[in-house]
Amino acid sequence: MKKILTNIVKKAIHSVFQVECDPMIQLAGRPEYGDYQANFAMRLSKLLQKNPMDIANAVMLELKDEPLFESLVVAAPGFINIFLKNSAIATILEKIATDDRLGVAPIEKPESVVVDYANANVAKEMHVGHIRSIVLGDAIVRLLEFVGHTVIRQSHLGDWGTQFGMLIEHLIERGDAHRAFSVSDLDPFYKQAKQRFDADSDFAERARQRVVALQSGDPETTSIWKKLVKESLAYFQKIYIKLDTLLTEDDARGESFYNDLLPGVIAELQNKHIATLSDGAVVVFLDGFKGPDGEAFPMIIQKKDGGYLYATTDLAAALFRIQTLRATRLIYLTDARQKQHFAMVFAALRLWGVADASIRLEHIPFGAVLGPDNKPFKTRSGESIKLADLLAEAEVRALTLAQSKNTSLSETELRSITHDIGIGALKYADLRNEKQKDYVFDWDKLLSFEGNTAPYLQNAYVRIQAIFRKGDIDIASLRTKSIVIETEAEHILAVTLLGFSDVAHSVADQLSLHSLCDYLYGLASLFHRFYEECPILSNSDQAIRDSRLSLSDLTARILQLGLHLLGIRVVDRM
Ligand code: ARG
Repeated sequence: MKKILTNIVKKAIHSVFQVECDPMIQLAGRPEYGDYQANFAMRLSKLLQKNPMDIANAVMLELKDEPLFESLVVAAPGFINIFLKNSAIATILEKIATDDRLGVAPIEKPESVVVDYANANVAKEMHVGHIRSIVLGDAIVRLLEFVGHTVIRQSHLGDWGTQFGMLIEHLIERGDAHRAFSVSDLDPFYKQAKQRFDADSDFAERARQRVVALQSGDPETTSIWKKLVKESLAYFQKIYIKLDTLLTEDDARGESFYNDLLPGVIAELQNKHIATLSDGAVVVFLDGFKGPDGEAFPMIIQKKDGGYLYATTDLAAALFRIQTLRATRLIYLTDARQKQHFAMVFAALRLWGVADASIRLEHIPFGAVLGPDNKPFKTRSGESIKLADLLAEAEVRALTLAQSKNTSLSETELRSITHDIGIGALKYADLRNEKQKDYVFDWDKLLSFEGNTAPYLQNAYVRIQAIFRKGDIDIASLRTKSIVIETEAEHILAVTLLGFSDVAHSVADQLSLHSLCDYLYGLASLFHRFYEECPILSNSDQAIRDSRLSLSDLTARILQLGLHLLGIRVVDRM
């Protein structure tokens, strides 16, 4: 819609003033300001040295006969408020109703995008802190794919480094290395190994030897390490499935994968004089990075003892993604503590020339999940909350909720919707907040049927399906019916339905998932108003009844698609 309006107004500006100018079309904030606004006149006034009101009035006159517009009003200091014609809106919606993509055209310039998310660590259980990367990352993947990009999911598993020498040595010494173990067994072993490593210097030395053995491919060490990776991947996959993500085991490319590339990275950076030696370590000095003392703060890529660092692996991974996977946009989702790390890696990639201006590098930092006390969300005994436990609790709570609401559902039906409601609510709570911010985790709020929650949106969908069931409506036949818009409630709902494509594109570009949540919430609220004010099944005018059913169907489909893009399912009843 924005594009259509942009073209129309742009043409008008050009024919009045002979200049190319973006008309700056926006949704109007309130119905009295029209449906859309054109905000270009203020900017153009500087260029033309004319009063913005005069500019807006002149363009308005030019647009007067445009068939899409009901009326235009110029408002101070120079806005043009655009009121769309109901018949024109109806015609566009009729077209959208026959389209599986609901009016969202694929973008003109698709890219290959790597999304680096769900970055768990091998041999460690996932905890609540991991949920954000998985949920936000998966929604980003879905959106980018839907608008037409080629998306390559990469989960950058922590599967390499000193900690594995430590853990494997500990398992061998305990005699546990060759038995079957699960990831939850490994958690305590891991903690014990760490304690021994810190307290016992002989053990620490043996652990270091074990790292060397791992790196040089010693068969016993490698086979234990492989077992750890395999068990962990299977465990992560269960969680990914429970969370309805798109991730598969093929998306895992752990740090170990890049190990062989690291010496080449160091050599190349040294040859190009980008990396230098400093106190025996190999470092890269980057403009603009200073330590707390104001001194230049370099990025270390090889330690004095020859060991590589997290940053070295990220340089190699970016090189692989750009040159081998042929990605032109790299998106990383981690918590905000890694901001500096990525800023430095990106700066180094630019300096190196691996990422020229045509490559978009984006780190999406996210805030923490807080408990009711506004501190990082922990169990009562102060342990971090295991993700698996959190997911199980979501389902239990959703079951209780569904039971309290609609007792006409059978036990089997209840169980089948419990997953979609519980997990949906959990994911939505994560998505609806601006991702940079911390958010407070609150079961009662996120599972409420009131407010900006997944159950509220799922409930709006259910209500529409209930109308169709009650009226015994053939939904497919609705999609070719005429739409007639008469009342204010119909008009606002219709304009909002029309806006879906703009929202989908802007969210996919800005990765502002919470704006899609806000849009869907607004849509569901407007539907409730429409439902209160506009009789549907009881309407004796067949054409109006059909049109209202069509508007309901479009609302349901956009809710379903919008939630699907966020990785959340709708249910038919609850
Ligand atoms: N495994 C890392 C961690 O747990 C996150 C990896 C993020 N991705 C990356 N390419 N560095 O902190």
